[in-house]
Amino acid sequence: MLFLPIWIAALAVAVEAQEVYITKTGTSARPQCTGTLASPSFHFQPFSYTLKETIRTFAPAYSKAAKLLKTSLSTSTWGSWLPGQTEISATDTADPYGQAAWSSMWLQADLQNYTTTGLLSTTVHPTPIPTSELVLPPADYFGPTDCYDFPDDFVFGVAGSAAQIEGAIALDGRSPSLLEKLITGDKPRDYVTNENYFLYKQDVERMAAMGVEYYSFTIPWTRILPFVLPGTPVNQQAIDHYNDVIKTVLDAGMQPVVTMLHFDSPLMFVASDNITRHPDIGYNNAGYQNETFVDAFVNYGKVLLTHFADRVPIWVTFNEPLLYAFNFQGVDNVVHAHSQVYHFYHDELKGTGRMGLKFNDNFGVPKDPKNASHVQAANRFQEMQLGFFADPIFLGKQYPDSVLKTLPGARRLNDTELTYIKKTADFFGIDAYTATVVSPASEGIDACASNPSSSNWLFPYCVNQETTNIYGWNIGYRSESYVYITPTYLREFLFDIYNKWKHPIIVSEFGFPVYGEATKDLPDQLYDSPRSQYYLSFMSEVLKSIYEDGVEVIGALAWSFADNWEFGDYSQQFGMQVVNRTTQKRHYKKSFFDLVDFVKTRQISD
Ligand SMILES: *[C@@H]1O[C@H](CO)[C@@H](O)[C@H](O)[C@H]1NC(C)=O
Ligand SMILES: *[C@@H]1O[C@H](CO)[C@@H](O)[C@H](O)[C@H]1NC(C)=O
Ligand SMILES: *[C@@H]1O[C@H](CO)[C@@H](O)[C@H](O)[C@H]1NC(C)=O
Ligand SMILES: *[C@@H]1O[C@H](CO)[C@@H](O)[C@H](O)[C@H]1NC(C)=O
Ligand SMILES: *[C@@H]1O[C@H](CO)[C@@H](O)[C@H](O)[C@H]1NC(C)=O
Ligand SMILES: *[C@@H]1O[C@H](CO)[C@@H](O)[C@H](O)[C@H]1NC(C)=O
Repeated sequence: MLFLPIWIAALAVAVEAQEVYITKTGTSARPQCTGTLASPSFHFQPFSYTLKETIRTFAPAYSKAAKLLKTSLSTSTWGSWLPGQTEISATDTADPYGQAAWSSMWLQADLQNYTTTGLLSTTVHPTPIPTSELVLPPADYFGPTDCYDFPDDFVFGVAGSAAQIEGAIALDGRSPSLLEKLITGDKPRDYVTNENYFLYKQDVERMAAMGVEYYSFTIPWTRILPFVLPGTPVNQQAIDHYNDVIKTVLDAGMQPVVTMLHFDSPLMFVASDNITRHPDIGYNNAGYQNETFVDAFVNYGKVLLTHFADRVPIWVTFNEPLLYAFNFQGVDNVVHAHSQVYHFYHDELKGTGRMGLKFNDNFGVPKDPKNASHVQAANRFQEMQLGFFADPIFLGKQYPDSVLKTLPGARRLNDTELTYIKKTADFFGIDAYTATVVSPASEGIDACASNPSSSNWLFPYCVNQETTNIYGWNIGYRSESYVYITPTYLREFLFDIYNKWKHPIIVSEFGFPVYGEATKDLPDQLYDSPRSQYYLSFMSEVLKSIYEDGVEVIGALAWSFADNWEFGDYSQQFGMQVVNRTTQKRHYKKSFFDLVDFVKTRQISD
């Protein structure tokens, strides 16, 4: 070590502490790259002055945008439905949208075990993150081996969803959603979760302190429009809340990505408690197929866009719609509703940001790629999960034959519809968590597909899914749930999506719940090497996809910035922070540093 005067040594320590996550010797610093980096090419070009200043706005502000709505919106506020409440005290029973009508929705929802709303009842003022929480963890020995930088405008960020983090489900005017009824038995519900409804400022502060650039969050339909349908009043408290969430994100130097519907569909679309779940695919009767759904969603989308689109560069209409729309009518409704909102955004509001959807599909890889029937099974699997939405939306193509021939009630789109729906997305969002090994149903795909009434739960895909490959090995390192670490399949997946649907791709969710993590002591939860391995290997493959395969991947949003409510479950921890469920205190995990460090050491502009 060099012998330095004491004050210089102290200065060096201070600088090091501030720049922990961008140090080139950090946990995931790039290895020595020789000979493979692009070399400069010097050349002369004409010069002219250009105006560099741009105003960051993506659409008109609400005062102007409101004129585009057919009818003017009325606003109101409502109170809360508190734990233990069994009676409606409000007396405004004549008002169809009054406090009494609002309360009756909760009374009818008949919540189980609604005993607490959590610790907090007002927005918490954020405190700066102490430097001591930002000290780099000791590095893993092996790291990434790539030699590429991220494109300048790469969308790097973290994601979460309202139902999984907000809590405060019946406060400030929110009305019931499907998620309050879906979880049965003794499993934890969405009533409290991370109390992000009150802690959002602190959560954003913690992301910003790490160096995150984009925050992908979702807005619950039933907060904005408690009575859901077109013509019903807008909840002013909800508008104010999400205006402040967006402001908090922007003030922290970050950008918002907003999803309109993340499973928390209004409960009123479901006539009874008769929500049926396909064991493998999702919910067959989760409201999306309701005859009022399309117009109601389009109205809701317009309310969001007119209020918030001036400050939001990236919009997602639907998150993983397949899981909750799985029958023909549900998906058809999503395709129509999405395309109408897209046309409103670009054609009427003249929005200049980007709008797309986020799809789920564990990449189905053929068990035996040399066996034609396995390849057919994998193609069918992707076609029914992705092509169903993506063929019309990205290409203006008819629904896939596999869908039309298999799903009861399936109907072709006519030419007018196809022309209207064609190219109504600016990016393809894929929640590319993992891969799954696919082979044909034992009775054969055709026999399975022609028998919808059979008790065969492989219907309608009619393929087997496994986690081991043809040689009996696991497809990758296993997590607490369905996710395996499959980075090379991610690259193959991105290649497949890009070349089929020919649009820029955002890896809109990816993440890894470490096996048994929730049962470990806190220090062992925080040193989460398997999650780092997942993220760094996936990000390495994204870079290879961009530079070696020519695939336009424009962003990656890690799921999630903190452990959260995984639909009745807190043991599947997908977060890059631990959340203490008693105190709501958050703790950064090692993977958060590693992921951010990976990106920061590979940004061209740095
Ligand atoms: C929910 O309520 C049921 C019946 O009231 C009770 O048996 C059960 O322990 C409660 N579960 C939780 C998670 O509080
Ligand atoms: C469809 O939604 C409406 C609310 O718009 C509701 O009144 C109706 O019961 C729903 N129908 C079904 C079959 O769930
Ligand atoms: C309940 O679900 C079953 C099976 O999907 C269906 O046949 C029945 O019509 C549903 N009932 C209601 C009231 O929605
Ligand atoms: C191809 O896969 C099918 C279905 O699993 C199987 O019946 C058949 O024997 C396989 N063919 C070969 C040549 O391996
Ligand atoms: C196409 O379908 C839409 C929606 O069902 C319908 O309104 C329209 O009349 C149809 N157009 C043609 C040309 O069949
Ligand atoms: C949550 O925090 C409290 C107070 O610091 C502590 O006693 C408790 O052990 C923590 N819970 C977990 C699961 O770490």
